[in-house]
Amino acid sequence: MNKKCYNICLVGATGLVGQTFLKVLEEVDFPIHQLKLLASARSAGKIITFKDQELIVRELTADSFDGYQLAFFSAGGRISKKYAPIARDKGLVVIDNSSAWRMNPEIGLVVPEVNFADSQLNKIIANPNCSTIQSVIPLAALKPFGLKSVTYSTYQAVSGSGAAGLADLKRTLAGANPEFYPHNISQTCIPEIDVFLDNGYTKEEMKMVNETRKILHLPDLPVCATCVRVPVMNSHAVSVRVELNQEFKLTDITRAFNAHESIVVANDGANHLYPTSTMAEGSAFVFVGRIRRDLSAPNSLLFYCVADNVRKGAATNAVQIALKMIKENLL
Ligand code: A2P
Repeated sequence: MNKKCYNICLVGATGLVGQTFLKVLEEVDFPIHQLKLLASARSAGKIITFKDQELIVRELTADSFDGYQLAFFSAGGRISKKYAPIARDKGLVVIDNSSAWRMNPEIGLVVPEVNFADSQLNKIIANPNCSTIQSVIPLAALKPFGLKSVTYSTYQAVSGSGAAGLADLKRTLAGANPEFYPHNISQTCIPEIDVFLDNGYTKEEMKMVNETRKILHLPDLPVCATCVRVPVMNSHAVSVRVELNQEFKLTDITRAFNAHESIVVANDGANHLYPTSTMAEGSAFVFVGRIRRDLSAPNSLLFYCVADNVRKGAATNAVQIALKMIKENLL
């Protein structure tokens, strides 16, 4: 039997995440018949090589989607708000990496290993925030113990800000003044990711709160977050404190993490083994370590997880959603 192949649009193909989409699609040998690369008018005519083929970048317009079945969007919320419904109304499944649709109750916010069934809510499917994806995977592994509350502290790489973030770290490392972040990211951690809201949290922090609840189907779960940009090129780290509803043995917790298909446990402090950014670089897995009791409260646990934010936190997660849909004959 011939493998079914798909006509795919990649919106934001010239961006940092867009470029990673191309690598991931190639690595997983995604069943592609035609691939259309879309970006702004600025990039129209640019040549990008995919699987030894030279593809021309086209300007995104309302007519871009005719004859295509699947679109990956990674060009920011404004573009997704405008063009994702156009693509959906033309019959495409849209997997959107922006925050535009994530909290819409009619749209699934999907980490395929956690809540794949939600991808069937609508033909637009939202890819969660990068730090949230890597955090809800270990939390889902702990769900059988009962989740009572969650506290996140993040250490987020500059690649999470796209090409502009990487350029600002390189620029400031070379001694020049910052042009993108409000402080010199090469010399300081910056506890400000996305804009500040009236409640004193940043938008990134509230994304982690609200998206965790939605993905885990625990709308009342107490969650709070502090999100910090750090001078690391790639891969986010999150320190997670979780309060469980029952007593636990640490060995059972580690066993639950080890049993999860997407988790690699790196938890041997005596041998300096714990998740690091370099360990996660280029990987589709979430690395979990520093697993220990919170000695200040009963039934409470701390762990530290690291993942490649541009891959599992963005492109890889979106491609995995599509692959699972294909496997289950939903695409
Ligand atoms: P372009 O390169 O033409 O500006 P990043 O987050 O790494 O900066 O990437 C953003 C992506 O979104 C790029 O591919 C960028 O294309 C794309 N983009 C930005 N504005 C538009 C637009 N008006 N129409 C289509 N794509 C856009």
